[in-house]
Amino acid sequence: MTDFLDSIKKSVRAIEAYHLKERQYRIKLNQNENPHDLPAWLKREILEEAATLNWNRYPHFDNDRLKSALAHYLDVAKERILLGNGSNELLQILTHAVLSEGRRLLIVQPTFTVYQQLARVAGAELIELDFAKDWSFPVDDIVDRIKKTHPHLTILCAPNSPTGADLPEEALEEIVSAACGLVLADEAYHEFSGRDYIPLQKNHRNLIVTRTFSKAMGLAGLRIGYMLADPGLIVQINKGKLPYNLNIFSELVACKLIAHQDLVNSCAREIIGERQRVSRALAALEQVRVFPSASNFLMIETPLPGKVLFEDVYSTGILIRDISGYHPRLTNALRISIGTTSENDALLDVMGSRLK
Ligand SMILES: Cc1ncc(COP(=O)(O)O)c(C=O)c1O
Repeated sequence: MTDFLDSIKKSVRAIEAYHLKERQYRIKLNQNENPHDLPAWLKREILEEAATLNWNRYPHFDNDRLKSALAHYLDVAKERILLGNGSNELLQILTHAVLSEGRRLLIVQPTFTVYQQLARVAGAELIELDFAKDWSFPVDDIVDRIKKTHPHLTILCAPNSPTGADLPEEALEEIVSAACGLVLADEAYHEFSGRDYIPLQKNHRNLIVTRTFSKAMGLAGLRIGYMLADPGLIVQINKGKLPYNLNIFSELVACKLIAHQDLVNSCAREIIGERQRVSRALAALEQVRVFPSASNFLMIETPLPGKVLFEDVYSTGILIRDISGYHPRLTNALRISIGTTSENDALLDVMGSRLK
């Protein structure tokens, strides 16, 4: 060793950290968050209950209150649930348990960049496929490559970010059936897709599902995610989880929100309606191509380099996501989160004035 930095694994030194530049904004449409915060009456109710908790004590060892609420809400056994500090943490725990040098992760690009980050940190081999020309999941290619390379883990972001691509249950079943390794369906945007992969787990014990409270549930700031999998698999994956990863406040808020599912459902319905409206309005602009989305965001392509249009839109105070550097096919692409009606109107005004 010549330098203390050589103590860090080569595979880690070789990559960039996950990074998002903080910017001021008037309207924030860059992280696929829920544009609506919890109503003030519910926040007050939660804060009152939070004041009665013992903040000096560790959380219940198993976060039993939230696990029980989720088990009841999803109609699954508690033993099938692992809770995370955001679904990102669950991705990390899973990749720690599965990937290392000499092991393989299969993903379809472009997708959520955290997957490749975690694989590289683990020193694992990354097998990357491309989405089909029309941006749909290349199901036959995935099955073929799984059969040829036997990845220990395949991660499918469904619906996919940043493209919005939908993955029908039958297609996922085809993929899971072909895999002898594990398949993770990252359902972060599940509430906007109308898909539900949980029933597939009955016949496919290698299928893992992760979901989050950060998107439709509107709790991105509180960091809550969950994993659903075969109980035997959960026992193994849980070994890499640190104790007390979910704090008592996040657990309380998640439980309250599950009890007020009507709020989440109506909010998700509104966002889906807005997605359709914004998609149609953007598609009506001659220079804009809008791709189908099963999520709470839209990917668009225009004749302008993504960076240029991003900065132009940002000059009006609207922050969207420049995804032009994510993949060679995305140089003219942008990702736009669906906001409130008035936020979306403001975005449409700006796009209309720039791209008639
Ligand atoms: C596809 C996907 N998976 C996981 C996450 C992480 O979500 P969480 O906030 O639950 O960590 C995100 C966040 O943007 C995402 O887009």
